[in-house]
Amino acid sequence: MIRLSKLTKRYGTFTAVNGIDLDVPSGELFGFLGPNGAGKTTSLRMIAGILQPTSGTVEIGGIDIARDPIAAKSKLGFIPDRPFIYEKLTGIEFLRFVAGLYGQAGADVEHRARELMALFDLDEWREELVESYSHGMRQKLIVSSAFVHRPEVIVVDEPHVGLDPKSIRILRDLFREYVRRGHTIMMSTHTLETAESLCDRIAINVSGKIAACGTMDDLRQQSAQGGGLEEIFLKLTGELAARNLVEVLDA
Ligand SMILES: Nc1ncnc2c1ncn2[C@@H]1O[C@H](COP(=O)(O)OP(=O)(O)OP(=O)(O)O)[C@@H](O)[C@H]1O
Ligand SMILES: [Mg+2]
Repeated sequence: MIRLSKLTKRYGTFTAVNGIDLDVPSGELFGFLGPNGAGKTTSLRMIAGILQPTSGTVEIGGIDIARDPIAAKSKLGFIPDRPFIYEKLTGIEFLRFVAGLYGQAGADVEHRARELMALFDLDEWREELVESYSHGMRQKLIVSSAFVHRPEVIVVDEPHVGLDPKSIRILRDLFREYVRRGHTIMMSTHTLETAESLCDRIAINVSGKIAACGTMDDLRQQSAQGGGLEEIFLKLTGELAARNLVEVLDA
């Protein structure tokens, strides 16, 4: 459902995403992991069609997003890491607006928008302006907006940031039910526990390349590291080669 071929993004001489090949089939919840600056957001923005690759291709459901962007994007819901919401819309108006971008309106959208807001305990805030929403409430509204038009594929950049424990649980159940119905979700996250328990497969990105990819068993094998995702992640990303803390704090 998502196919990346030699996907590459350069900024000047710096290569942020370095020839990524990846296939994510329908019905899969795929985790896209990696340290800060590994190229996750850059990749997800290229997949969502809002950033042009330097080279390589993105296909959504067999449609090349560069050749037929409207057809490819109509299959997609994208939740960016730093979402933009019109402050002067109410929550329900924002959901109507997003559905409208995908050519959807009417009783069906209305019903779905209300159900999504109720799911995230936002019913009392439905008619309030977004400017009065807290950080977590905005995040829940943005997540709802990715589901409101029933896309086949949802691409989401760090969905858990700012959510309370109950909302994280709801999000997890919503994601799992969505893929159970045959849809596809690709998400980046730094929450390794969530990734390990939630995702069907995981890619660990290091410096713009996929260092390991697959089920937890695949990752253990590829990294020659037993244990949980944290051990594997730290081995592949070499982050325990940290400075001597005593020296740092004494400096
Ligand atoms: N517009 C830009 N111009 C130049 N360099 C950029 C630009 N956008 C991103 N980069 C660089 O590309 C690299 C990858 O950035 P990206 O935002 O994709 O990382 P990330 O994996 O999402 O990190 P994080 O976990 O911090 O969100 C970084 O080194 C970043 O500095
Ligand atoms: Mg990012």
